[in-house]
Amino acid sequence: MTEDRTRPLTVPRAAGAGGPGLFVTFEGGDGAGKTTQASMLEEWVTSRGRVVVRTREPGGTEVGVRIRDIVLHHRGHIAARAEALLYAADRAHHVETVVQPAIARGDVVIQDRYLDSSVAYQGAGRVLDADDIRALSLWATDGLLPDLTVLLDLDPAAARRRLDADDKPFDRLEAEKSEFHGRVRAGFLALAAQEPQRFLVLDATRPAEELAHDVRAAIAERLG
Ligand code: TYD
Repeated sequence: MTEDRTRPLTVPRAAGAGGPGLFVTFEGGDGAGKTTQASMLEEWVTSRGRVVVRTREPGGTEVGVRIRDIVLHHRGHIAARAEALLYAADRAHHVETVVQPAIARGDVVIQDRYLDSSVAYQGAGRVLDADDIRALSLWATDGLLPDLTVLLDLDPAAARRRLDADDKPFDRLEAEKSEFHGRVRAGFLALAAQEPQRFLVLDATRPAEELAHDVRAAIAERLG
């Protein structure tokens, strides 16, 4: 599959009550604090009189909840290409039925995870090509890219300490896991380097209030 990073957004940016719609995504490894930051941003944007649609992938729609259940809870192997297609199917339905209509109304969409998660996670498995995964998602979403993507960057070891305060003894499985999460992190950072105007990369070890301040500054710029 080929991709075109210069392809423009196909979504109409209608002026809603408070201005044109905005699409903001939060990305990063598990335990980086995405949900906390998304909630803080939601509160702030709402206080400025804008309508916020808070959503997530996978699982931002009824169909998506069923797909989420398969990709996250199915016991046993799922072929790598099938997994990538399931995330893309969730995304296609979510964008068409939730995200695009919200942007067209002029709302501010604040979303946990989007196509960068597919590239970083499905690409980290080393089975699939990152450009193919990205192209698949761009096809699924008719080319929709966020106005701003906040990458909460965190060393996987620190994330793990956050997720599980009890340090477990080293074992091979954990080492493999941490190697995988290292590749996910590198994948996110590579994406951010490719599109510096879309990404805001923040050191997730900083205090939540400081991070929220930087996110607000980037949003204020885009809200005008
Ligand atoms: P998330 O909802 O952030 O997890 P939780 O609710 O447990 O905090 O994400 C679920 C998992 O899905 C996460 O490990 C990353 C993975 N994921 C992918 O592998 N590819 C994708 O395209 C997306 C959106 C998520």
